Amino acid sequence: MIKVMFVCLGNICRSPMAEYIFKDMIKKEKLNSKIIVTSRGTSREEEGNDIYYYAKEKLEEEGISYSKHKAQQLKKEEYNQYDYIIGMDEGNIRNIIRIVGKDSENKVYKLLDFTNDKRDILDPWYTGNFTKAYNDIQKGCKELFNYLKKEGKIKYER
Ligand code: 4NP
Repeated sequence: MIKVMFVCLGNICRSPMAEYIFKDMIKKEKLNSKIIVTSRGTSREEEGNDIYYYAKEKLEEEGISYSKHKAQQLKKEEYNQYDYIIGMDEGNIRNIIRIVGKDSENKVYKLLDFTNDKRDILDPWYTGNFTKAYNDIQKGCKELFNYLKKEGKIKYER
């Protein structure tokens, strides 16, 4: 069992989009019982709130299902409970480290670091561009999935 956590600032736009895009990918490969996927924010600003309307609209447009969401802030003790803690931009990475302390087990990554285009995923809360965020997140999730397969972290049933 591997445990993946996506992290953004508010936990209402990018990280829940990543959570449900990645859940959709692993479900299609019948791997949903092998990987636990969740999301958190580094800020407390949106705690308890559902996925932002335009993020939901984009997920629906792409045929990605989602369920009821309550934004949660990342907690220090969760560092030990997850294998991959994946931020969307450099600010997220700094904030993750501020919350959990030193990344002594090298669990903290930036999503597009799994691709050959190692940029930040811009925050659509500020840019208004949910299509760009979706496309970047989709690409990152696809390459994360390929990485986990290549590294032998995902075991298919025979
Ligand atoms: P997210 O976007 O980090 O992609 O969820 C944001 C949502 C809300 C806020 C900031 C970023 N906010 O400050 O309320």
